[in-house]
Amino acid sequence: MVTPPHECKPENVQRELIRKAKKTEPVQLFPVDLAHGQHYHRQHAVNSSRVINIEDLRRLAQRRLPKSVFDYLDGGAEDELTLAENCRAFHDVLFRPRSAVAVGDCELKTRVLSHELSFPAMLAPVGYSRLMHPGGEVAAAHAAGEAGTGYILSTISGHKLENVKAGSRGPVWYQLYLLGGREAAEGAIDRARRAGFSALVITVDTPVAGLRERDPRNGMKELLGTSWFARIPYVPNILAHPGWLASFLLDGGVPKLENVVTPGKGAMELVDVSAALASATVTWEDLRWIRELWSGPIVVKGLLTGDDARRAVDEGAAAVVVSNHGGRQLDSVFPTLRALPEVVAAVKGQVEVLMDGGVRRGSDIVKALCLGARAVLVGRAYAYGLAAAGPAGVARALEILRSDVERTVRLLGCPSVAALDRSYVEVPPAWSAH
Ligand SMILES: Cc1cc2nc3c(=O)[nH]c(=O)nc-3n(C[C@H](O)[C@H](O)[C@H](O)COP(=O)(O)O)c2cc1C
Repeated sequence: MVTPPHECKPENVQRELIRKAKKTEPVQLFPVDLAHGQHYHRQHAVNSSRVINIEDLRRLAQRRLPKSVFDYLDGGAEDELTLAENCRAFHDVLFRPRSAVAVGDCELKTRVLSHELSFPAMLAPVGYSRLMHPGGEVAAAHAAGEAGTGYILSTISGHKLENVKAGSRGPVWYQLYLLGGREAAEGAIDRARRAGFSALVITVDTPVAGLRERDPRNGMKELLGTSWFARIPYVPNILAHPGWLASFLLDGGVPKLENVVTPGKGAMELVDVSAALASATVTWEDLRWIRELWSGPIVVKGLLTGDDARRAVDEGAAAVVVSNHGGRQLDSVFPTLRALPEVVAAVKGQVEVLMDGGVRRGSDIVKALCLGARAVLVGRAYAYGLAAAGPAGVARALEILRSDVERTVRLLGCPSVAALDRSYVEVPPAWSAH
């Protein structure tokens, strides 16, 4: 975020920041080696008696991150109506448990695009993850693999896609934006194929960037820019987070977009998110072009209607993700849980249906499965963990969600996640109209 001026760079300043960081951080910092000699800071396991739910991780993330970075992660578009509704919609769906049922070992395993996942949740693409923690995408993919699930790498990523894939034991998919144009995308698709990515995720809900009002208020553009003068008003808040600042400086400052490489120009500089998303979306026409380059499964992410889902099926998608980008794009669209039944009905079992948006508890995952999702993607839930405590934080987020799912399914008197269906929930009558 801030490139240090020359006088701020010496070793002793960094040592002092790390000393302060160790005092203020909830956990200790340890440098470790991961894939391809990547260095980042791993931390001790998160204290599970203090971090009981995802909201606890959110609070830790808020404490560790500068306001600009936390708000980038936490915020949504305009009035943040859809952001809030994504979470609230889960409250409208009530469980109908079956009592006096002996549920033995409850089976949580799920198959998504022929991958076996230990439980029905994967990690959604989250851009700029390396700003939240130096381990960034490598750390998140690693934690996903250790938990027996999959990770989706955003185009807007600071680590090389090869290292992300090598760092994980689980399936890794690549999410494509046309950042840098078709030439850069061709290069990324080719690299993803060679590195062993098993699916391509095409995000279709970003024709322009949503107006995330917290970002301009926090000077996100100025902080990512090169003018020291423009940054001055926002620097005090960054200095007030020495733990984050130390790890950021040790990581080399603002990372480049390592997977957006234009021939002759190298990796793209990290830029303001609005500028990054403008003209980076993929259209149905582009999708046809991508299908010629990529023979593996294609997942279309960012649909909210049956019509769009059917179009995705016709265009050859293997799966769709009911998503409104976590309420970060068009505000006042349907919360995703409410859009899910329409999409499930429209695709008639021809493709797998995933959903994301607002998942903060395992019971949310169970409700989505009852309404027909094969699995969910989680975004902020794991990113709070990453920001709070690196890979250990992601591991804790997944542990929380997994044990929540298991407990909920057992309390419902259901033997497995595969057996969940509409009979286990009651939805508001108004939802049936869609
Ligand atoms: C900080 C942040 C960055 C994101 N970056 C991307 C991205 O680069 N590509 C993408 O397809 N979706 C991106 N998303 C959307 C997520 O993939 C996902 O749809 C959303 O986070 C789900 O909502 P949830 O955060 O409530 O779980 C991002 C979301 C957040 C919170």
